[in-house]
Formats: sequence, structure tokens, C-alpha cells
Amino acid sequence: MTDLQAIVDSVYSDLAGRIGEGKLADYIPELATVDPKQFGIALVTVDGKIHTAGDADTAFSVQSISKVFTLTLALGKIGDGLWKRVGREPSGNAFNSIVQLEQEKGKPRNPFINAGAIAVADVVLAGHLPKEAIGEIVQFIRHLADDESIAIDHNVARSETQTGYRNVALANFMKAFRNLDHPVEHVLGVYFHHCAIAMSCRQLAHAGLYLASAGRNPLNGGSVVSASRARRINALMLMCGHYDGSGDFAYRVGLPGKSGVGGGILAIAPGKASIAVWSPGLNEVGNSLLGSAALELLAQRTGWSVFGQ
Ligand code: DON
Repeated sequence: MTDLQAIVDSVYSDLAGRIGEGKLADYIPELATVDPKQFGIALVTVDGKIHTAGDADTAFSVQSISKVFTLTLALGKIGDGLWKRVGREPSGNAFNSIVQLEQEKGKPRNPFINAGAIAVADVVLAGHLPKEAIGEIVQFIRHLADDESIAIDHNVARSETQTGYRNVALANFMKAFRNLDHPVEHVLGVYFHHCAIAMSCRQLAHAGLYLASAGRNPLNGGSVVSASRARRINALMLMCGHYDGSGDFAYRVGLPGKSGVGGGILAIAPGKASIAVWSPGLNEVGNSLLGSAALELLAQRTGWSVFGQ
């Protein structure tokens, strides 16, 4: 039997000498104040066993990882109607790029680039005030993680609200193409706040478990989404979850994954486990440098790549 704790420990200790590598996301000023010398791993198996190493209980800004959960909510609300608003193709561009949006008439390539997630936020907002939609997202994540303590870091939300000029541009662009139903400020309020949710690796790995276990939360038996929807969300994470680094992540790790500029990555080994890693230093395309390296070693040592050993 594979000793998963030994694997998690070996990945941590093999990379411990590199803690602090990479560059903090300083375009959101609050994220530039985080201590870069932190590194955590949490792995939860589909039968509920958890294995951790390092700073697995320190909360960090999940940023774009929250887009997995807003996508799940939006699909629950309008199902395949979502694909009229957002595509399902990798963009090959930076997460905050505007270039394709003009060529493709305001329809973002996928739900994980910023423009796509802003359109998803617009869907989640339907029928709600912004604060109700934000509350629904937080409640959903608390439910998934079975942890009521999960909350928004309001300093991060404020910091991005004050400086998120590119997102303001993306949202206005989509509004001009009639791909946003609600006022730009309301949609961005929802978007900035869900990106500012703070979670630890342990909480995040628990929250992602439904994607590893055919849409069910194995801890309480509850159904979150259908098996086919979980499979499709995993497909989107594999193809688009690391933006213009998605090909490299698939090549090196071979698991569906979603990164955030807070330095976290949620990776799913279907049928096996949900894994969260975190280290704030980013590589040149905005994905956690040490987190990617940790998942590469973990996938090698478990043999869990979806492409085979
Ligand atoms: O909109 C932004 O730029 C951030 N709130 C989220 C970007 C992000 O996490 C990209 N991930 N690697």
C-alpha cells in the first residue's frame, strides 16, 4: 500500500530548501505584503484521510481558485446555457489579457481567465443583490469544506477594488458587447470578493473533494454535482486552469488543476484525492512556482497523472 503521508513528507522536505523562490503578485498591493517563505501541502483522499505538511493550516488568498466554485454554482443555475456566455477553450494568453475579447465579440475563451470568471459572476448575481451573491458563494464553499470559519479577507478585497483596472476594462468591454446583465460595479464587487476568500490548504483540499469523487462529497455522502459535471469541470481545469501555463502543467503534473495568484493550486486526482498546495512565490505566468514543483513530484511519486504512470 502506498504510504501517502511519507510521499507528502518527502515532497515537502525535497523542496524545503527552495521556500521563498518566485515573485509575489504585487499588482494587488495587499498580496505583496505576504511573507513569501511559506509552503503548505494538504492531500485528502476520497475516503477522507488527510495528509499534510508544512503550512497546511495557514489561510491564504485563494484568488482564481475560487473560480472553480463559482463555475460550479453558475452551472447549477443555468446549466449548458453558460456556454452561450463563455467558451471552453484554452486561451493561450495571460489570465488578464484583453486581446481575444475584442476579436471574439465579448465572449471570453473560458470560465477561468478573468473575463470568463467575471461573466460567471454575472450569472451568479442574477436575482440577487451583490452582497447576497457573495454570501451564497461563501456559504457554498463553507458547505463543501465543512468549515464555517472560512471567510473573505476584506483587506484583499479592498486592495483589488482600488487597483483592479484591467478587470474594470474587461468588464466594461463585455458590457459593451452585452455579455453582462448587471451593472459593471456590481459584477466586479462579486468577482473581487470571491477572489479574496481566504482558505488554508486543508480547507481547500476538502472543498475540492467532490471533483475527485464523481460529484459527491464522500465525507457526508451528499451530492454536489452529477458525475458528468464533475468530469467536465475537471476537463476545464486541465485545459485552462493554469492559463498560458496550462500545457506545461499538464505535461509536468498531468492532473486537473486551478491556480491562484495568492500562490495556491488545487489539483484533482480523479477517484483518488483532492490536493491543495500553497507557496506565495509565482513563476513568470502567475502560477505558484513551488506549488507546481510540489505537484509534479507528488504526481510522479503517487503515479496519479491522468495520462498514466
Ligand atoms: O482578477 C485578478 O487578477 C485576481 N483576482 C485573480 C487572478 C488569478 O488568481 C490568476 N491566477 N493565477
